[in-house]
Amino acid sequence: MKILVTGGLGFIGSHTAVELQQAGFEVVIIDNCSNASESVLDGIEGITGKRPEFVKMDLRDKAAVEDFFSQHPEVDGVIHFAASKAVGESVEKPLLYYENNLGTLVYLLGQLSTRPKAHFIFSSSCTVYGQAEKMPITEDAPVQPAESPYGNTKQVGEEIIRDTCKVTEHLQAIALRYFNPIGAHPSTEIGELPLGVPQNLVPFITQTAAGIRKELSVFGDDYPTPDGTCIRDYIHVVDLARAHVVALQRLLEGKNKANYEVFNIGTGTGSSVLEVIRSFERVSGKPLNYKIVGRRAGDVISAYADTMHANQELGWKAESTLDDAMRSAWDWEKKIRGL
Ligand code: UD1
Repeated sequence: MKILVTGGLGFIGSHTAVELQQAGFEVVIIDNCSNASESVLDGIEGITGKRPEFVKMDLRDKAAVEDFFSQHPEVDGVIHFAASKAVGESVEKPLLYYENNLGTLVYLLGQLSTRPKAHFIFSSSCTVYGQAEKMPITEDAPVQPAESPYGNTKQVGEEIIRDTCKVTEHLQAIALRYFNPIGAHPSTEIGELPLGVPQNLVPFITQTAAGIRKELSVFGDDYPTPDGTCIRDYIHVVDLARAHVVALQRLLEGKNKANYEVFNIGTGTGSSVLEVIRSFERVSGKPLNYKIVGRRAGDVISAYADTMHANQELGWKAESTLDDAMRSAWDWEKKIRGL
């Protein structure tokens, strides 16, 4: 069976391509290389022994999307990662985000709607919950007004899929709401490659330890949490990638209970920023240079997943610990910096 992975050269997409190939699927990747390099294909091949088919293409080119599907009638499923993901940039360039993240989704669903059968997995985010009232967060927690155009693209993206599924019975879709993906493949063949100064916590930590950044700023220690720093659910990217494979299998085997379903994908455990730093120090044996600064605008206090729905329905559970994930992130950073 052949699966299209859009954005398959990116952080989560590349790890998912690996897991798909290891589960016996054929993979075709579409990526415009705006935030990833073709050399990621070498890493995927290094791990799996197989180089996925690759089409360099921008999904904003509607005619190219049509051509791709007419030339690939054999594609059985689509996992759609291709999107822009920088919260701050989305505030500066909202139209770019709506075009990249929603225009492309509309084109893809348009193509899939014309097929006799279609299976579709969408990258959504726990950002749709905003600051949820209850922890852990279940899938029926209300979606809150988005804090940024990026967050809005995830909410509206889910609505676009839900509305399309309502009128397109043969379209089977699952949205996976990711919590905070971190880490890298244990082989160190692939990992996260942030462009410029990382906005996310873990790459900032590893770059600081590697001497690329002077120190980590911890955004606020006066939150109403046990140590005062924010709490998130950090999930190893390989666990997250595996969730895509089982979600896809659910659709291909017709085990889904509705033609549009939503799952939280996290570990179920919340960790504070200071706990993440301690984990890094433990696995690397290196003290981290950090200072406490003011809060970052838009940060929620706490977000971690109730994973019962994914456990029961997908038969999936995160297996790696925070230490495992931090170790893999550090191994990857050392490898790419030649340390
Ligand atoms: C962020 C995005 C979220 C997106 C996710 C993708 C924001 C507000 N949210 O989530 O929409 O889906 O990335 O991975 O940008 N921190 C520091 N110092 C740093 C960086 C982060 O203390 O230099 C803290 C943050 O305050 C937060 C935690 O680390 O408490 C995690 O931050 P981050 O990795 O940016 O993820 P989120 O903000 O949870």
